[in-house]
Amino acid sequence: MSNHFFFKIHRDLLREGPGNNESTRRAYRMLSEVPKHPHILDVGCGPGAQTIELAKLSAGTITAVDTHEPFLDELNRRAQTAGVSEQVTAQKASMFSLPFAAGSFDLIWSEGAIYIMGFEHGLRTWRPLLKPHGSIVVSELTWLRAAPPVEIAEFWTENYPGMQDVDGNLALIEQAGFEVVGHFILPEAGWWEYYQPLEERIAVLREQYKDNEEKLAHLAVAQQEIDLYRLYSAYYGYVFYVMQAK
Ligand SMILES: C[S@@+](CC[C@H](N)C(=O)[O-])C[C@H]1O[C@@H](n2cnc3c(N)ncnc32)[C@H](O)[C@@H]1O
Repeated sequence: MSNHFFFKIHRDLLREGPGNNESTRRAYRMLSEVPKHPHILDVGCGPGAQTIELAKLSAGTITAVDTHEPFLDELNRRAQTAGVSEQVTAQKASMFSLPFAAGSFDLIWSEGAIYIMGFEHGLRTWRPLLKPHGSIVVSELTWLRAAPPVEIAEFWTENYPGMQDVDGNLALIEQAGFEVVGHFILPEAGWWEYYQPLEERIAVLREQYKDNEEKLAHLAVAQQEIDLYRLYSAYYGYVFYVMQAK
């Protein structure tokens, strides 16, 4: 899909992945050793729903990185509106090669984005950026039940072959040198904060591009993911993992 059409589907959405402010708050409050004014890195921030919430929660400073510049522009606008722009620095950078010195951050946060590197690779790559005993919070797509039906098993095997169950991810966290502080499942309402406006956008674009086969095919793929969640949400979900470096 062209970058332009991708952004046409995703422009101005509240968030770019499942999540909600309640869960951002819940995860933040599980952390016990964050300083009063922490320096936080938000990786794959998108338009920054969680960045703004972190700014309000933490009284810290947040460096928010993403590779898609229009999302960073949107984050800057939202930070301004929310009155937290002094706390937020939006920076174009890739999670694969983050341009920060070792030991820079008290906390690394990433909602719905570590899958891009793979869970274990992401944790191991980002860990050196933490100060001693710093923390990481990520939300990650996770199998919630064994033996998922073939249709959904095949869909995620194709789209995210590295997807684990909760125990699998907890083991990877320990192996990467962290202690698990806690974990919880994002409520289904958090999925619909993302999917509902996306589904409305898809319907509008389907009408607009009704004679364009290529674009309709892209829209069908986006709609399929939503339809599958409606059918099989009991089998997978986003799980927040809260961890501290040993
Ligand atoms: C599923 S979205 C989640 C965005 C945001 N955290 C949220 O929950 O709304 C994943 C984000 O990762 C960004 N991204 C993709 N590749 C990246 C990379 N190599 N480095 C940093 N961000 C990347 C995308 O532009 C997108 O904003």
